[in-house]
Amino acid sequence: MSKKMAELFRTISSGVYVVGVAHAEHRNAFTAAWIAQVSYKPLMLSLSVNPNNASYQLIKAGRAFAVNVLEEAQTDVVRHFGLHSGCERDKLAGHAWRTGITGAPIFTDALAYFDCRVQFTRRTGDHVLVIGQVLDGAILKPGATPMTYAQTGDLDGGQALYPTAFYDTPAVLIRHFWRSHHLRS
Ligand SMILES: Cc1cc2nc3c(=O)[nH]c(=O)nc-3n(C[C@H](O)[C@H](O)[C@H](O)COP(=O)(O)O)c2cc1C
Repeated sequence: MSKKMAELFRTISSGVYVVGVAHAEHRNAFTAAWIAQVSYKPLMLSLSVNPNNASYQLIKAGRAFAVNVLEEAQTDVVRHFGLHSGCERDKLAGHAWRTGITGAPIFTDALAYFDCRVQFTRRTGDHVLVIGQVLDGAILKPGATPMTYAQTGDLDGGQALYPTAFYDTPAVLIRHFWRSHHLRS
């Protein structure tokens, strides 16, 4: 819908990750870019997940996720976990992974990983923000360069989802006007 808006939001730098999720004997993984560190003490990461993803139900039930950091060359991995759903196929088949201390899958060929226990979740627009405490992690490929989200272009189809304007209702403007007027007086 808006190339200009997509380009603007892509100036916010993010990496590209495969997030492993688990509940009981069920496991899955999906590509994610909207991940950030949000606390030093305790160490915490945020993950923004589309609730329509098959992985979301496993995060909700299993209360854990593992962030597997990808390196520059792993575009086939990005496609495999980002363009197909665990509803259609067993995406983990054929990939080397082990279970982390939370039970979430950790890929042996990742650049690094963070094993996280979910602290809380919050609906945030069309996604769900998941905050996790990092319980374990390591660099598996010292010196390798992490992949960036910008490098993946429009692989996730995000461009079609960006609006052409920052908000779509004049009510936002009216609320903003009354709030700032009230604060000044
Ligand atoms: C480069 C890239 C980045 C993505 N980032 C996210 C993300 O941050 N959050 C999310 O929920 N989905 C993201 N996706 C989409 C999911 O990976 C995709 O919908 C996937 O098929 C979901 O798999 P699942 O249904 O097995 O959980 C991204 C996809 C790509 C290709």
